Amino acid sequence: MSSYTRKPSHELFPTKGPVKSSQLIGRADELASLVSQLIAGNHQILVGPRRTGKTSVCDAAIAQLRTKKAYVVSVDLFAVETLAVLAELIALRAISNRPAVKKVLPALRRASIRVGQAAQMSATLKHEFGTDIEFAFTPLRSQKTASDQFDYSLNLLEKLAVADGRPIVLYLDEFQEIEAAGHRFGDPDLITKKMRAILQRSPHVTCVFAGSIEHMMRELFASKTRAMYQFGGFFTLSPISNDAWVDGLRKFYQADKTSITDAALALLLETSGGAARATMLLAQQSHVAAVEKGTFTVDATEVFQGIDYAMGAEQPAHESEIVRIRGMRAHALTIAQRIARAEPPYGAKLDAKQVGRALESLRNAGLAVQVKAGEWQLVDPLFRRYLERFSSF
Ligand SMILES: Nc1ncnc2c1ncn2[C@@H]1O[C@H](COP(=O)(O)OP(=O)(O)O)[C@@H](O)[C@H]1O
Ligand SMILES: [Mg+2]
Repeated sequence: MSSYTRKPSHELFPTKGPVKSSQLIGRADELASLVSQLIAGNHQILVGPRRTGKTSVCDAAIAQLRTKKAYVVSVDLFAVETLAVLAELIALRAISNRPAVKKVLPALRRASIRVGQAAQMSATLKHEFGTDIEFAFTPLRSQKTASDQFDYSLNLLEKLAVADGRPIVLYLDEFQEIEAAGHRFGDPDLITKKMRAILQRSPHVTCVFAGSIEHMMRELFASKTRAMYQFGGFFTLSPISNDAWVDGLRKFYQADKTSITDAALALLLETSGGAARATMLLAQQSHVAAVEKGTFTVDATEVFQGIDYAMGAEQPAHESEIVRIRGMRAHALTIAQRIARAEPPYGAKLDAKQVGRALESLRNAGLAVQVKAGEWQLVDPLFRRYLERFSSF
């Protein structure tokens, strides 16, 4: 054993961004169902709080669709600044499904060439791109406004699908950004009307929209006055089951020749409430504790230590959440603390209107969700733990 090198905890239990398909715990049924809905051409809307595994599942679905010969186009709107860039990314990622383009992409990336500039690039690259440039980029560049470019890119999808005889799946993550404050993509009504009109006449294009701010996603897709009303079916991710966590976590520990006791698993899952990222973070930090101690068994002691480490690692994030809550409505912090301590929010010595507004801003920020009438929960169990103990005086 002495020559054995322990596997890095953050590789066994990744917590930064979506996990690889091979590291998905649970979700097998949901993944299969998402894939078959998309193959059947049914647009899907995936709504759920942050860090519950939406992107991981969608990425896995997209990877499967790719192996089934579908063309796929994924864009995370968090990472996109303007409508013009969105239009470019859609065109680039669409055309990148063609093998000839895929081949030159690394060169493009190395040269940091944006799609818009692709039409003007070097003769060699142009030669390699061949007709794809004429198909996608030259016309895109000739559009005068960002809105026309977006129009062009969306229309390009159906054109490409028909030309190449492939269905296309368009996956837009964090779609609520379309109407986030500041409207950086322009008027949300205009954009969504355009999307609906174009996608409606694109029978070979199927969409999956994911979003983490539930009320915004519902407003976009379930409100009668909105252009995307009933555009697709809502796809709900259930919590990952206890059994799936137990199997999955055991397997990941095993990959480092490590075992975890039943008591330790129970403690870990009770603390994380089965929330996806929190569970992975606690598993990761408990592994850190085990490695530090040189043991290959994770017991409750290592989990307690793991919880402390995790709270320490999250402290800067928790502190900035407090600052964010303080910047919201008056009393939002008081109300958040009441929720954290499982006290009824309306029991505070505040009038109902103030409590209502505070709850609304916590919900709008994606921090709290209503479980049933009068009952609220903080989305992140570790932040709940922090707030529970946090003293504002
Ligand atoms: N099925 C899963 N199995 C294991 N870990 C997961 C799973 N889903 C989510 N996670 C954990 O949650 C984190 C966030 O996942 P992600 O897919 O980015 O969530 P979302 O898109 O909902 O914000 C991941 O880094 C991982 O730690
Ligand atoms: Mg995500």
